[in-house]
Amino acid sequence: MTEERLRYETVKAEEVAFWIEASEVNKFPENGGACMEYKGLQIAIFNFSRRGEWFATQNLCPHKKQMILSRGMIGSHGNEPKVACPFHKKTFSLRTGKNLNGSECDLATYPVKIENGVIYVGFKA
Ligand code: FES
Repeated sequence: MTEERLRYETVKAEEVAFWIEASEVNKFPENGGACMEYKGLQIAIFNFSRRGEWFATQNLCPHKKQMILSRGMIGSHGNEPKVACPFHKKTFSLRTGKNLNGSECDLATYPVKIENGVIYVGFKA
């Protein structure tokens, strides 16, 4: 794989070709996010401890192209877990990446798994 081929693109669980270690679980804030970098991609990883779930999305907010979403506020839209961009408060589903404000681009989302206290993000070949 060349770095040129990497871009933000949703990876479904069944498409994972390899897992990249992000960090130990206990390094992530509760109900908050942190960012990892892999071959030029910034991936926001969210520890949604109120729900007992983890999510990963691109860190790039598609609205004004800011690398910021890992610092966004997480919450729920009905039953849908979401993150709000700190800049202009556009909100995105953490599960699907869909822009919940409707009018602009969605986010790429990535599978996550935890093994032996370490969180991993899944990528396609
Ligand atoms: S930069 Fe994220 S909502 Fe504007």
